[in-house]
Amino acid sequence: MNTNDPSFLKLNPETFIQNSPSPFPDERSLEKLAREMFGALQSFGGGNLPTSGLPTNGLSSPTSSQETLPYLEDLKLTDTGFSYSNFQSFPNINIPQSGGGNLTSARRDFPILTETVNGKPLVWLDNAATTQKPISVIERLSHFYLHENSNIHRAAHTLAARSTDAYEKARSLVQGFIGAGSAEEIVFVRGTTEGINLLANIISDKHIQSGDEILITHLEHHANIVPWQMVCAKKGAKLKVAPVDDSGQIILSEYERLLNSKTKIVSITQVSNALGTVVPVEEMTRSAHKVGALVIVDGAQSVSHMPVNVQEIDCDFFVFSGHKLFAPTGIGVVYGKKSILDTLPPWQGGGNMIKDVQFDHTTFQEAPFRFEAGTGNIADAVGLGAAIEYLNRFGMKQISAFEHDLLEYGTKELLKIPGLRLIGTAKDKAGVLSFVVDGFKTEEIGKRLAEEGIAVRAGHHCAQPILRRFGLESTVRPSLAFYNSCEDIDALIRVLYQLGSRNKLGI
Ligand code: ALA
Repeated sequence: MNTNDPSFLKLNPETFIQNSPSPFPDERSLEKLAREMFGALQSFGGGNLPTSGLPTNGLSSPTSSQETLPYLEDLKLTDTGFSYSNFQSFPNINIPQSGGGNLTSARRDFPILTETVNGKPLVWLDNAATTQKPISVIERLSHFYLHENSNIHRAAHTLAARSTDAYEKARSLVQGFIGAGSAEEIVFVRGTTEGINLLANIISDKHIQSGDEILITHLEHHANIVPWQMVCAKKGAKLKVAPVDDSGQIILSEYERLLNSKTKIVSITQVSNALGTVVPVEEMTRSAHKVGALVIVDGAQSVSHMPVNVQEIDCDFFVFSGHKLFAPTGIGVVYGKKSILDTLPPWQGGGNMIKDVQFDHTTFQEAPFRFEAGTGNIADAVGLGAAIEYLNRFGMKQISAFEHDLLEYGTKELLKIPGLRLIGTAKDKAGVLSFVVDGFKTEEIGKRLAEEGIAVRAGHHCAQPILRRFGLESTVRPSLAFYNSCEDIDALIRVLYQLGSRNKLGI
């Protein structure tokens, strides 16, 4: 059997699997411990947890071993000390109700949210930097390493079949989640940054000549600026930037004016990580296609907040990172229209991406394998699939409605703080509340919040040009996810008020 042939994937892995007892008793007892550990967390979470996302293939035999491992005893799983009643809530708190449903209890699925910091309950408002992981994702990773770990696409043995199946299932889940036409349009990479670098390399090789133009917007984070500057330097092309208005929204008439027959690539964010602006990417894609440009949409900050359908946007490429979507770090996705991907050259060469290698000539796989050289991040791709399965239980439409209410609540409360200036006031926003306060350095505010267990990012958010557009080098940036609540926002607001009164008293 040629396991480099993608048709290998079509075989049912279960046909390989022998239901024989494990020769490794330790593995079994470790599994039992892991299950007990997660069981303890689940019962602590109020019994309202999702059922395990693990496949029930009849392979995980229960163990009778009572062995314990000393280091696990240190975890003190039931001693997390968190309860909603520990919050000194402000009066008149309204948990958003519209479309919220079970989302109000979703935070129980995220064990880390029961941490305490400086004796205070952790309030995680740094979701634009990275999101926390639900127990089903953590458990899925553990299951992978306990039962499935193997390299993929390369061998006929049982574990290779299990891991290949799990990895390819994750690809299909990504396809469904972003509405791609087929799983072959989904390439696994390390994250958004690697995704954009991959595209910058493979597209520019073929499509960029000296004098051509690449169009981005003023909202982009560094990952969607620097790779294009590198292409421009190498190819003698020009980088053009569509401006924003004072609310932080793209000035569409200016964007249209910048498009012309020399524009070969348009690369735009769907949601700004620094301001939260939701960019009209569908309309912008239509205009870019009229001049024949290829369109890349950076979904790093959109996929966790709203439903995304790449076929409706009609972009040629879409990129995002798993870790901002409740999945592990080190895994991300490039979507590309198959008809275009198949015409592009590979970037990195090595195993997995080839059909045949001779010393004078190599032939390459079709997409997506052509762009996945070497051994990828198999377990974390599987973890990304588990995160998507978890999100699918709620649906992104419901998550989006819930977060919208939370964002409105946060905006209203922040604007009551004396001397606070909200940076990014576009009509359409998602997930981010960036601000500065007169008389305070942003790092000072970030530090004070951290002392109270409240995690936000205070800095330039890897998006210096857009902050400079507003005359700033940094902002304080609380950023939301669907496991946040009005109580989280109240905790933030309370510290900001305290900060203000200290200042007045000269303390
Ligand atoms: N891009 C990440 C952020 O916005 C790192 O914080």
